[in-house]
Amino acid sequence: MLQGKNIILGITGSIAAYKAAFLTRLLKREGAQIKIILTPYGKEFITPVTLATLSGNTVLTDFFHHDDGAWNSHVDLGIWADIMLIAPATANTIAKMAGGIADNLLLTTYLSAKCPVVVAPAMDLDMFRHPATLKNLETLKSFGNLIIEPTTGELASGLEGKGRMEEPEKIVAWLEDYFKKKSRFNGKRVLITAGPTYEKIDPVRFIGNHSSGKMGYALAKTFADEGACVDLVSGPVNLNFTHKNVTIHPVVSAGEMDQQASALFPSADIVVFAAAVADYRPVRQENSKIKRTGENLTITLTPNTDIAAKLGGQRKCGQILIGFALESDNALANASKKLAAKNLDFIVLNQLNDPGSGFDVDTNRIIIIGKDNNQKKFELKSKQDVATDIADEIYNLMTHG
Ligand code: PMT
Repeated sequence: MLQGKNIILGITGSIAAYKAAFLTRLLKREGAQIKIILTPYGKEFITPVTLATLSGNTVLTDFFHHDDGAWNSHVDLGIWADIMLIAPATANTIAKMAGGIADNLLLTTYLSAKCPVVVAPAMDLDMFRHPATLKNLETLKSFGNLIIEPTTGELASGLEGKGRMEEPEKIVAWLEDYFKKKSRFNGKRVLITAGPTYEKIDPVRFIGNHSSGKMGYALAKTFADEGACVDLVSGPVNLNFTHKNVTIHPVVSAGEMDQQASALFPSADIVVFAAAVADYRPVRQENSKIKRTGENLTITLTPNTDIAAKLGGQRKCGQILIGFALESDNALANASKKLAAKNLDFIVLNQLNDPGSGFDVDTNRIIIIGKDNNQKKFELKSKQDVATDIADEIYNLMTHG
């Protein structure tokens, strides 16, 4: 999986830098091209000569060459790389990355990198568990950086605890897994519905709900990151999102969502119904603002098409269809009924009264219910991580049926 991959390996000032030599050798053996950036303190732990010999490339240590003034372009490095791996990453470098400090070549390259960035921390246990380090790692995660957790064991200080950089073989396996995952939906078309729908009452009022679109957009990002071509049929949301593999089809009402999703459905390999579609719309949609009279006002509602159920009835052999169920009571039983009624492969249950789950929040706790009624329960996670769990489950269906 690493054949032809361009990897920037950043090495910082930790005793674990000695492992970077072996890591370089393993990456080379797997067919990767490696450019190494060594920080000023990194040079105290391992020599550029060793690393240049193993990587087959000059090791970069400074912004420019002191003898002839030639620049090492951090921007070009960032464009060249498929991935940037910082291993070992000290508490100091992690803190600077979190704070946007750019006082060496590794940090300027990090700030301009367009590729994914992976960090393998290495430090003493007290440094690792210090709230400042933990907060900095959370900040890096919020930037989308990936962390290869350190392991627990004997540390250079002689103490035992969590802080050892992961072993080079495991880091290579992690990278191989990562690149495998990146391409697992290559060539697949994925249709996702997301967000709320608004059902017009009059020119100023509508029936809507609290869906923010975050869950559906997180799914779109996951599939697109992993090689799929995504059609995202989205109700009105307030999210800033673009992705080269995602076409957003904005809609307002359930009728428009139905029309758009139905047009895209025949060419979809995978469909995920994550939208909170209004079940009813007003029979009459007034062209003028309804005036206040002081009397009761009755608005008669008529049911909207159940898009998931309709398309579930039209599914072709090989298509995978996934729904969501947002429940407030009898959650499992209601979700199972929807799974069968809509002819889905599995349904993702999230619950309104579960703190941190459902509408608008950045997290969700889900239970995946399969056709044979088996249930898989997941921890409360970010919606992005929930999207990965759902994609994993879909990938399992694709590969094992
Ligand atoms: O958008 P967020 O703020 O991130 O919130 C995420 C979410 C809570 C909206 C999402 O996780 C979720 O649960 N979406 C489905 C909400 C819902 O409307 O559930 P439901 O139980 O009413 O519908 C069951 C399934 O049928 C859903 O897949 C729904 O998209 C689909 N449906 C429902 C009605 C309808 N007319 N057409 C449909 O396709």
